Amino acid sequence: MNFHVMTLFPEMIEQGLDTSILGRAREKGLISFEAVNIRDYSNDIKHRKVDDYTYGGGAGMLMQAQPIYDCYMAIREKIGSHKPRVIYVTPQGSVFNQQMAADFATEEDLVFLCGHYEGVDERVLEEIVTDYVSIGDYVLTGGELPAMVMIDAISRLVPGVLNNDESAMTESFNNNLLEYPQYSRPEEWMGKKVPAILLSGDHKKVDEWRLEQSIERTRLRRPDLYEKYMLENPPKPEKKKRRRKKSTEASAADVTMQADLQEQEDNT
Ligand code: ADE
Repeated sequence: MNFHVMTLFPEMIEQGLDTSILGRAREKGLISFEAVNIRDYSNDIKHRKVDDYTYGGGAGMLMQAQPIYDCYMAIREKIGSHKPRVIYVTPQGSVFNQQMAADFATEEDLVFLCGHYEGVDERVLEEIVTDYVSIGDYVLTGGELPAMVMIDAISRLVPGVLNNDESAMTESFNNNLLEYPQYSRPEEWMGKKVPAILLSGDHKKVDEWRLEQSIERTRLRRPDLYEKYMLENPPKPEKKKRRRKKSTEASAADVTMQADLQEQEDNT
């Protein structure tokens, strides 16, 4: 999979994406990054200007259409005949999520446009952009960090990028659930013991426990995702009638989870 990033700060992209897992994946030829400097396509040979004042007035400068369009056409020429998806990273876009990452990961080539200043001339956006994507409801100084966040999330879904294919499948947000808690050695640390079930060697019970924990953690921390999960996985009707738990009675799992969350809050 090939990422092409149109930017005024190519060094930021190159340095940001060339370490750790993504750096390794690039070396293996599983993914490639190309940061293309929009300034190289300015018609202003002397000052390499790429921005100008906004028609109608208003503070700040706007990135002009021509250098961005020429930069895009150079990338298209390199890619070949097909029209690639072009993501404009902007706080005005749809908020990026795991499903979008999975969708983008099926593309052979992806082009990102990173804005700066007060924005980009609308006409070039209409001409080339296929997806408007934000990374959250806050405003950053430019599109490079959001582009890198998305490229990271997309790359790890490309087959072979993660050592263990399974780790991409079981982590948070698959099936709208957050990941269950995990523990490593020692068995006891600061008086806290690893849950006994994880030491039992009973894989079926461990899987059941992990699913329960994932559901409970999602319910407490991300009620929005929990609602989606419950809609897609409605509880199976019980065969025998059992005594209904009063809504005021908390389960043992609730109590542990709430204590954990309280402790985390106290520590922050
Ligand atoms: N550019 C500035 N802020 C942004 C955001 N939150 N998401 C995507 N692009 C941006």
